[in-house]
Order: sequence, then C-alpha cells, then structure tokens
Amino acid sequence: MADLPFNLKGLILSGGQGSRLRPFTYTGAKQLVPIANKPILFYAIENLVECGVRDIGIVVGDTKEQVMAAVGDGSRFGVSVTYIEQDAPRGIAHAVKIAQGFLDEDPFVLFLGDNFLREGIRPFVDQFCRQNPQPAGQILLYPVKNPQDFGVAELRDGRLLRVVEKPKEPPSNLAVIGIYMFDRTVFEAVNGIKPSARGELEITDTIQYLVDHGHDVRCEVAGGCWIDTGKMDDILDANRAILEGLEPASAGKVDEASRVEGRVVLQEGCEVVNSVIRGPSIIGERTRIVNSYVGPFTSIYYDCLVQDAEIEQSVVMENTVISGIGTRIQDSLIGRNVDLRGADGKPRSCTLVLGDFSRVRIP
Ligand code: DAU
Repeated sequence: MADLPFNLKGLILSGGQGSRLRPFTYTGAKQLVPIANKPILFYAIENLVECGVRDIGIVVGDTKEQVMAAVGDGSRFGVSVTYIEQDAPRGIAHAVKIAQGFLDEDPFVLFLGDNFLREGIRPFVDQFCRQNPQPAGQILLYPVKNPQDFGVAELRDGRLLRVVEKPKEPPSNLAVIGIYMFDRTVFEAVNGIKPSARGELEITDTIQYLVDHGHDVRCEVAGGCWIDTGKMDDILDANRAILEGLEPASAGKVDEASRVEGRVVLQEGCEVVNSVIRGPSIIGERTRIVNSYVGPFTSIYYDCLVQDAEIEQSVVMENTVISGIGTRIQDSLIGRNVDLRGADGKPRSCTLVLGDFSRVRIP
C-alpha cells in the first residue's frame, strides 16, 4: 500500500451509454462486462487501491442499480465508495464538475471505468504526488494505430502543447489514456469551458484550458498494455492480456476422464466432466463443462453450462448455456443468460456476437 503525502481521492466514471458495445449494453453496464471473470470496473478500483486511495467516487447513470449492486459500499475492496448520479452523459468534464462536492480540495485520479491498463497506475500516481511544486494535472499517453478514435496529444520538446478530441487529422499517434491526475485547479477549467459540437463538456477541452491558462500539465507515455474496452475486439484483447499472466488455481472438481492442461483457473464449485480445458483459461463459480473442449484464452463466467461443445478465444458471461454445437465457437463474446443450442445439420464455422438473453439455434 502506498504512503500518500495527502488524501488522494479516486473518481471513476461508470455512466455513459456504451453504444459501441451494443447489444451487451442494452441490458448491462459496459463497465461490468467481465474480463478474465472480473468486471472491468473492478480492475480500476483495484488499481486505485494499490496507490493508497481510500475514498472513491463513482459517477453512475442509467445503469446505476447494477453498478451499485456489484460494488456495494466498497468495503470488500477496503475503500469507501460514494455514488454520484449524472442525469445524462453530458461529458467527462461534466462528471468531474458534479463530483466537486465529493472531491472537495483534494487531488484526485480520474479513471474512465472502461479503461484498462494491465500494469496498473502506481508509478504515475507516485510521480504525480511527489512532484514539488505539484502540477495541476498529469496525463498518460499511449502510441496507437488509430489516434482519430481518441483524444490526441501534440507535444513539443516533451511538453504538452495541445490535446484534441478524436481529430480527423491527428497531430500525433499519441492517444490520451482515460486515466488522469488533477489538483483542484481543474474546477476552474471545467467551469470555464463550453459544451463541444456533440454537446458534451470534453475532458480534452479541460486539459487544453489548463495549458492555455499557464498551468503545469505533465505527460507521460505509458508502456505495457492499455485497452479502451469500448468494442467487442477490445474486450477479447483485454481478456487475452489478463489470461497471459494467469496463475493456475483449482477450487473446482475434475473427473478422471477430463484433462486440464496449462495455466487454468477453476473457480469455486465449478465442475469439469469428460472434457479438455486448455489454458490459459478460467472457468467460473458453479459453471459445468461437460463433454466439451475449452481452448486457450477463454473465460467462462459463473453459473454457465457448456455441454457437447467446443469453444476457444472467447468470453462467456454469466448464466449462459452452450449445448450441442456442432462447430467450434471462437473469437466470440457471448452475453448473460444466453441459451445457445445446436440443432441437427452439418457443422459449419461461425463467429458470434450475441447479446444478453439471446436465443440461438445453429443448424
Ligand atoms: O479511452 C480514452 C478516451 O476516453 C480518451 O482518449 C478521450 O479523450 C475521452 O474523451 C474518452 O473517449 P471515449 O469516446 O472513449 O469516451 P466515452 O464516451 O466512451 O466515455 C468514457 C467512460 O466515461 C465510459 O465508461 C462512460 C463514462 N462516461 C462518459 C460520459 C461522456 C460517464 O460516466 N459520463 C459521461 O457523461
């Protein structure tokens, strides 16, 4: 646990609409989609806890009941959680603005709840906290192939000159990661900017305001693995990135006819019957794998049944049944409460994007 020189708080954004992750986000918060059988949002909370943060505000929107049910009062993470309701997704800077009462005068880490930095944020937070005088802000940058999809930074001699939101002609390949550190000067900025053309108070305009008004905003280029888990492929990439470092563990039952190969986690109460599980992969609590093959880089969440099926490089959410499928399922993201069963017919290859509560019969 880090020893912080002041009361650093955390602000996690878990509102918004998640339109890029439909159909999953019609019924569920996108920040609760599981990566290696743990909701994305929990990684953000754990990253903050590792830095010594004890007070976390979570901005919630339409999916607030689900987020509150999953996180609770924060005691299971050793933190105190305060929920801040946002009436509509009016922008990241708007979320900061409405959190001022919670944040008070304290410096804080702003963490977008769908951002995933596998190596954590501790070195960056330590650096921010120990600088004297402390900068008004610190942002993290990451080289990407598609900068037009993110906030993008322009640097001169290593110093931040400009940030622009999703520019058609990006000034660099450096995306602004959705993890930022600010002191209270940020409130001057969020109160000083106007909504953008898409009607949101933008975090990039906030940062630009600070730079333009002579405040010190530092930037660091992050290494390791950063993923904005906004789209299906991003979820599968993040799942793979976590499973790559998996420590094997078994709290489940495996019968004699089954083979468990490589780094596999069998969670409490799961059961493997006459099946092959090839790691890295994780099988959730009370899930049953019967007469099946579960291949590498697969996460199957809790209370699922996989029977007479083959699946690999996929994520399956809770309470889902996959049964009697005559073709291998791969590179797929399968939602909650899905009922996926085979029917008679010749096997064919298929790639699936199935929303929560889907019903599918594959010939
Ligand atoms: O992932 C990094 C990118 O995140 C940055 O490069 C961009 O500069 C930044 O604007 C942001 O872009 P996105 O398009 O990914 O933002 P999105 O609308 O997906 O929102 C990010 C998270 O914040 C998501 O978990 C939903 C939440 N949110 C968003 C808005 C606009 C809220 O809670 N309230 C909001 O009003």
